[in-house]
Amino acid sequence: MAVRHFLTLLDLSPSELRDLIDHGIELKRELREGKHHDLLKNKVLGKIFEKSSTRTRVSFEVGMLQLGGGSIFLSPRDTQLGRGEPIEDSSRVLSRMVDMIMIRTFEHQIIEKFAAYSKVPVINALTDSYHPCQLLADVQTYVEHRGSPQGKTVAWVGDGNNMCHSYINAARQWDFELKIACPEGFDPSPELVEANRDRVQIFRDPKEAVRDADWVATDVWASMGQEDEQKERMEKFAGYQVNHELMDYAHDNAIFMHCLPAHRGEEVSADLLEDEKYSVVWDEAENRLHAQKALLVFLHNT
Ligand code: CP
Ligand code: NVA
Repeated sequence: MAVRHFLTLLDLSPSELRDLIDHGIELKRELREGKHHDLLKNKVLGKIFEKSSTRTRVSFEVGMLQLGGGSIFLSPRDTQLGRGEPIEDSSRVLSRMVDMIMIRTFEHQIIEKFAAYSKVPVINALTDSYHPCQLLADVQTYVEHRGSPQGKTVAWVGDGNNMCHSYINAARQWDFELKIACPEGFDPSPELVEANRDRVQIFRDPKEAVRDADWVATDVWASMGQEDEQKERMEKFAGYQVNHELMDYAHDNAIFMHCLPAHRGEEVSADLLEDEKYSVVWDEAENRLHAQKALLVFLHNT
């Protein structure tokens, strides 16, 4: 059977994704009860990071240890990856030694090429185009706080970036409506929007996108690799901050998510980020661990 990868949310079926979230919730409960599993005993995850990370690195590392396995951190700075060894060679070599590989990199084509040559499952731990692992955690968090996202309205406010693209895929896989508010010139991929136009709409006014939303999410205005554009983006995104004033337009029961790290006073106000009436960002960050443990088990067993 062909090896299964997780490069975008579309690599799993909606029912596989629902089961995976349920398993993440179960693993979280069992961990709290002190019940341990050796589901990945003696297995090793290779972790390739071409960009910085706190949550992704720690959640994968801790997740593998909790499942009875281990992981190794590979940085381009001190491997041949940083000295130009071709991706296809690196993939063939590493995938003969480790049991799964997660990669955080730049162009999405890099991970597609790596996966094409890999004998073991490859997990997208963020590319310039998608961040599917974060959406597993976000959906788990919504399910825990409010139940199924099916039929709900989600507002994405800010950059049409990798997180926004994964929200578009999530809308499709979990059957919700997505309203995106972004300044002109910062839209998500037109092809992706067009492919999902039955459930995805673009607005210029954040109030229009957030009106009656059940779930509001945002992310930094300048992603990793766009540091040079920070100043220009600060100007273009002025007016797109998620704060209490904007949340007033959402449904009374709405919750707020941010993948973190957050820039208080830019894309989100400090008050909103800390307001537990709306903000579930710490649960969301913790759920990276539980949801990805379920993902690792799923990919290993299928
Ligand atoms: N949200 C997220 O992926 O965080 P890190 O960059 O810290 O991994
Ligand atoms: N859009 C952000 C997400 C960080 C987790 C970035 O790519 O830097």
